[in-house]
Amino acid sequence: MKHIFIQGKDPIKPTLVLLHGTGGDEQSLLSLADLIDPEASILSIRGNVLENGMPRFFKRVAEGIFDLEDLEKRTFELKEFIDKAADQYEFDRKKCVAIGYSNGANIAASLLFYFETVLQGAILHHPMVPRRDILLPDLTGIPVFIGAGTNDPLCAPEETNELRDMLQTKGADVTVHWDHFGHQLTMKEVEKAAEWYHKFI
Ligand code: MLT
Repeated sequence: MKHIFIQGKDPIKPTLVLLHGTGGDEQSLLSLADLIDPEASILSIRGNVLENGMPRFFKRVAEGIFDLEDLEKRTFELKEFIDKAADQYEFDRKKCVAIGYSNGANIAASLLFYFETVLQGAILHHPMVPRRDILLPDLTGIPVFIGAGTNDPLCAPEETNELRDMLQTKGADVTVHWDHFGHQLTMKEVEKAAEWYHKFI
């Protein structure tokens, strides 16, 4: 997968795995990572799917309706890519914290839906429920931050609460930050994510 790896100043810090929204790329969230933890390593990945020229992490049938077969395939592909990148760049595979926005948050959530030990924690900016037809693994103690909008046109508050409940039922330690700025990723939400990160990671 196309990606950027930046070695962090502090080798004991986690590696931030950056997953952009639809139409973004591996450059899109670099400044965000700097606001969360400027000393951490960064693995920023470009989604392998193109929708009308816009990179994404998995195919969709329509807005908000996912191609579940492709979502599964791409979730496994992403996990394998992170595994291999850890070998190649020699970072601690057990200390990967995903930071995803929108489509990137959806595939990060999908990683948690499939694999027990894939992430140390996750910051999900405006995620949806990736799917409802699989049994989630044990996620005991995994810290998850969800940034949500009470007026997000792509994800109703009920869906955010559903995702929170699905993760919490499996033992994840979920914090939801609510704002009223639609699907946008605002500086206030990033500041809240940074506060959460320094407390839980
Ligand atoms: C998705 O397709 O993952 C969601 O609709 C968010 C987005 O538009 O990227």
